[in-house]
Parts: sequence; C-alpha cells; structure tokens
Amino acid sequence: MPVMAAGGAAEATRFLIWGGNGWVAGHLESILRGQGKEVYSTTVRMEDREAVKAELDRVKPSHVLNCAGCTGRPNVDWCEDHKEKTIRSNVIGTLNLADCCYLAGIHCTVFATGCIYHYDDDHPIGGPGFKETDPANFTGSFYSETKGHVEEVIKYYTNCLILRLRMPVSDDLHPRNFVTKISKYERVVDIPNSNTILTDLLPASILMAEHKDTGVYNFTNPGAISHNEVLELFRAIVRPGFTWKNFSVEEQAKVIKAGRSNCLLDTTKLERKLSEYGYAVPEIHEAYRQCFERMKVAGVK
Ligand SMILES: NC(=O)c1ccc[n+]([C@@H]2O[C@H](COP(=O)([O-])OP(=O)(O)OC[C@H]3O[C@@H](n4cnc5c(N)ncnc54)[C@H](OP(=O)(O)O)[C@@H]3O)[C@@H](O)[C@H]2O)c1
Repeated sequence: MPVMAAGGAAEATRFLIWGGNGWVAGHLESILRGQGKEVYSTTVRMEDREAVKAELDRVKPSHVLNCAGCTGRPNVDWCEDHKEKTIRSNVIGTLNLADCCYLAGIHCTVFATGCIYHYDDDHPIGGPGFKETDPANFTGSFYSETKGHVEEVIKYYTNCLILRLRMPVSDDLHPRNFVTKISKYERVVDIPNSNTILTDLLPASILMAEHKDTGVYNFTNPGAISHNEVLELFRAIVRPGFTWKNFSVEEQAKVIKAGRSNCLLDTTKLERKLSEYGYAVPEIHEAYRQCFERMKVAGVK
C-alpha cells in the first residue's frame, strides 16, 4: 500500500466512514470531528462495485472506516428471513469494499463482531476467552454466520484492520445501546459476556487506524460482565428502584428466532497493541461504572 504521496510528502489523513447513517458511524464521526480530523461519510451500497469505486475516487480517503452492515430491524432475527439481503451486505458488500480499498491503497478498518463465538468445553464460563485465532464456533444466527464467513476471507487483506465489537454500549440510552435493550426486555438471561463501551474503544479504533494497524482484534473492554451485574450497576447509579426478571437460555429460545451468542473474548492482543500508544482500556466492571456515572452527570434516566 502506498504510504507516501508523490514528492515524498507525508500522506494527509482523510477518513471516510461507510454506513454513514448508522449508530456506530454517528459516534465515530462526532469523535473525529471533535478531534479536528478531516472526515466524510457515505451511504453508498457496499456491494455496488462501480459506485464504491466512484466514491473512493471522489473523496480520496487515506482511511475507510467501515461501519456498514446488515444488523436487522428490530433485531438480528430479521436476518433469518432475509438471507440474500444479509449476504449481499455482510459478505459481498464488506468484501467488495475491502477489495476496492486494497486496489486503491486505502487502509480499511472493519467494525466487525465478536458474536461469532459461544462458550464451549474449551472456553467455559469463567474460563479462558476466545483468541483472535480461534475459529468461529457460533452459527446459531444467520447474522453471526455471515460475519464469521466474511472475516475468514478479509483477514487475508493486508490493508484491513478487523475490530470485533460485542454488545456495544453508549453513554446515552439510544435504542441500540445494549443496556437500553436489556432494560426494556420483559425478561433477561444472566450470562457473563464481553462488552464494548464505545467511549473507551472508539478513540482506540481511530488510533489504530492512524497507525495503519492490520489484522484481527477482539475489540471489547477486558473481562466479562453478566446481565444482572450490568443492571445492578444501572440501578445503583442511573435508575434507582429499577427492577427486572430473569429467565433461562432455554426459555429465551422460545421467544427469539435466532440464537444469541454468549462469550468472553481474550483482549490480550488488543491491550498489548494499545499499550504501545500509551492507551489503556478499563476492565468491564469499572468501565460500566464510569459509563453510568457519565450518564448520571448528563441527566440520563
Ligand atoms: N450494534 C451492535 O449490537 C453491534 C455489535 C457488534 C458489531 N456490530 C457491527 O458494527 C457495525 C455497525 O453497527 P451499528 O450498530 O452502527 O449498526 P446500524 O445502526 O444498523 O448501522 C449500520 C448501517 O449500515 C448500513 N448498511 C447496511 N448494509 C449496507 C450496505 N450493503 N451498504 C452500505 N451501507 C449498508 C445501514 O443502512 P441501511 O439501514 O440503509 O441498510 C446502516 O445505516 C455493523 O457491521 C454491525 O454488524 C454491531
């Protein structure tokens, strides 16, 4: 990939966010603007090769931040009944965008998912987490299946940085925030999971992109936290008196179409990389505490 512009001058950094109307995309864009970075966003369909090439040629980004993906509405159950549309976005589109960036010498950060794993005999609850090199073992939802398949291919692109988010959490109660979701469910399971607190991780994604890091990274706060632990902290800091009811995974399976992944991701590789930049990500319980304190200060209820 070219890293120097003609004449030897350092290449200017220009970000282009794909999936510009999405939730994560909006957060990234405001962080980049807050940092005074040059940033553009686009809603061009990733699977439309000619349109993608034309958009890259028009904006001439040094970095693409791919936040586009078919996530389903109201949730991933949608993907079960719209398989071709899900493939066109999450497999053909994601791969096409990575490939067009490769051919144009553009660094491409892919906001991927860690929901490609579930606890198994080698990775039981309370045991070691899944490493980046572990093959996906969760195909209980078609959404996860497409994400697992495409990662197996784009990981070979030398211009791609693949960041696996899980159950992202923002400092507000946006409908896509994991906390908003579980606080509204009639009943919730109670299983430890890796979570991504966006305030902690999105600035790290920008740092990694700027350093042109590549390869796959589990992109969560270190550690795992259970649904009840999250909701107990939420009640203690944000919403006193909040109550909820639990049910088992077997009972949950009766009210959802697709299975849901539950797992711990090993963040050793990420922590080591970020330490090179003097950037530390708090452990998940502490991260939630800080997140809920920010909500409280902002008057979020
Ligand atoms: N939120 C989560 O729980 C979560 C967890 C882990 C990973 N992720 C991943 O992180 C990324 C961002 O998630 P998000 O929560 O911000 O999702 P989001 O709010 O649903 O945003 C995704 C955006 O991608 C766009 N998009 C879908 N297919 C596209 C295509 N083929 N070409 C161009 N744009 C397309 C959508 O536009 P249209 O609506 O017009 O199609 C939407 O604006 C996704 O890849 C998601 O899989 C999310």
